[in-house]
Amino acid sequence: VGIHSQLNHKSDVVNILYKTGIAIESRVCIGDGALDEVDRIFAQMDSGKAEAASSLLTGAASSPAVRHEASAGKHVLKILVVCQPSVRTDYAEPALAKLQAAGHQSQLLELPDGEACKSHDQLLKVWSVLQEMQMQRSDFLVGIGGGALTDLAGFAASTYLRGIKLILIPTTLLGQVDAAIGGKTGINLPAGKNLAGSFYFPSVVIVDPGVLSTLSPRDFRSGLGEIIKYALIEDAVSEKTEYRRGPRSLWSLLRDADGQIEGDVLLGIINSCIRMKLAVVAKDPHEAGLRRCLNLGHTLAHAIEKVSQFKYSHGEAVAIGCVFACRLAERMGRLPAGQTEELVQVLKKIELPVAVPEELSKEQLTQAMAFDKKRQGAAIKWVLPVEKLGAVDLEVSMSAQEVRDLI
Ligand SMILES: NC(=O)c1ccc[n+]([C@@H]2O[C@H](COP(=O)([O-])OP(=O)(O)OC[C@H]3O[C@@H](n4cnc5c(N)ncnc54)[C@H](O)[C@@H]3O)[C@@H](O)[C@H]2O)c1
Repeated sequence: VGIHSQLNHKSDVVNILYKTGIAIESRVCIGDGALDEVDRIFAQMDSGKAEAASSLLTGAASSPAVRHEASAGKHVLKILVVCQPSVRTDYAEPALAKLQAAGHQSQLLELPDGEACKSHDQLLKVWSVLQEMQMQRSDFLVGIGGGALTDLAGFAASTYLRGIKLILIPTTLLGQVDAAIGGKTGINLPAGKNLAGSFYFPSVVIVDPGVLSTLSPRDFRSGLGEIIKYALIEDAVSEKTEYRRGPRSLWSLLRDADGQIEGDVLLGIINSCIRMKLAVVAKDPHEAGLRRCLNLGHTLAHAIEKVSQFKYSHGEAVAIGCVFACRLAERMGRLPAGQTEELVQVLKKIELPVAVPEELSKEQLTQAMAFDKKRQGAAIKWVLPVEKLGAVDLEVSMSAQEVRDLI
């Protein structure tokens, strides 16, 4: 972090100009079986050799390097593992056992499922356990579960002692491609979702696609909703960041996928989404501009989640939001006719919803959008696909009323 100050004594007023840059060091270890390496990843961080762990952006493989360093420097760490009930037996307890076997003072705390864990009550509970364990800043909070759990874990780690170390192990597809990547944390307040939060980057994110085998089909599809969004911004991200896409575009992979998306294709898709998000976040960590492209489809999606009282999952709502954004762009003449229909066909194949549900009140949706965090005065700023699927305009302003008419 560089802080440079410049003093100007020419008048009574002293101007102090702070220039800050942020240095973010955050790694992602990805691969089938990555979860089994949790003790070795700790051993490696502890011996200060984390750079040998998989750096997704450079494409290095994780497991052999991590294994090689495993026996280095044994220093006892305090580790609190928080998890969702659904992953306790299969993933959290085995990970805890490995950490305990490595000699770390570790304990497990199970939190309520879904959005119920993103509350101030649960945050307080985690803080209390961290306090009982007499955690120091160099100790670790490990979050194992879906996006709801990793959001809460991130916020707890970022606020306790103004920041203890954090490792995230996302176990849903949505968590692996999105929620656990990029440093956004948060809890819900009675007034709305994610209203209290922070930007805080985990030391390591461990992404093991193997854990997705126990996920419900609906939660798997929800992750695909977010992946569709990545497909719709891939060209824009390639153009504006260091992200380089694979031999086939995400869009063509999803369009041509027959049946279940699994194995190497799934691993490749997860890998691309993570690299894309990291490349965007590296350019714009605090959402000053480019990072807004990740919000494609999300203005309406958040409203659908809220008005339906979370009957629609995040990914389902994002799928509807993406179709809506494309239709909006088509009507404005910014996207060639027929592109939205192509998207609709792909989403139908994946069995994701494509239209604003009739039972949701347009008034309530409009009101919810007007209160979205991304609003600017009376206008809502939209991220819209333009020219072709893959490219976006980040700065389309439209009033809530205009949007209501279009719903
Ligand atoms: N921080 C961010 O940048 C960001 C981005 C997108 C979404 N989010 C947040 O993520 C949350 C949604 O995430 P989600 O869809 O993962 O929801 P979730 O955490 O509620 O998980 C969905 C369900 O899957 C279960 N589950 C998790 N892993 C499993 C596994 N491997 N096998 C079986 N069941 C499993 C959970 O217990 C839960 O019932 C929302 O709160 C949203 O706000 C955050």
